[in-house]
Amino acid sequence: MGQFPTDAMQAFVKELKAGTVSKETAKKALLDKRTFEGRALYEMNCRPCHGDSTGGDGPMADGFRLRPINFTDNGTIETIVEGYTFWRITNGGRGLPQEATPWDSAMPVWKLDIPEEYRFKIMLGEYDLAQKTARQPEKAEGKEGEKK
Ligand code: HEC
Repeated sequence: MGQFPTDAMQAFVKELKAGTVSKETAKKALLDKRTFEGRALYEMNCRPCHGDSTGGDGPMADGFRLRPINFTDNGTIETIVEGYTFWRITNGGRGLPQEATPWDSAMPVWKLDIPEEYRFKIMLGEYDLAQKTARQPEKAEGKEGEKK
């Protein structure tokens, strides 16, 4: 995300004033707004462990045997689909299968404390802060025969 209000938001306001709002512009502006909210919610809830820049280096991070993930590392949140990331945020470390122990995770269960809509926004903010995009589900990937 760029400066706030973002380019997409400014474009939306411009079209709004001119009375020519397109659905595409409105959608982009709304996505930026949600991402911005997600970033604020991330700072409030996730930063203590995952850090300001999602590097897994928040002030509380050193206390855990299993460290918070560094989301800016290649091979973390960019390798999983949004649905899985959302599930992990929702169910926390305790959602991990039995085999994961003794690697008990400090990752909290968020489904009771943060409403679904907010959790989704946080996920948008998380990817945006880490400057990563989620892996696309297979069916959505490119044209047939295209190199992956
Ligand atoms: C008390 C510390 C703590 C807080 C607060 C916390 N996390 Fe975590 N998180 C962890 C730890 C430790 C791990 C690594 C172990 C694991 O995967 O369960 C983790 C892992 C994750 C993963 C899994 C990544 C992957 O590749 O599987 C996601 C996604 C995540 N956290 C998102 C969040 C979000 C979003 C928030 C805020 C709503 C948050 N975390 C708050 C400690 C925390």
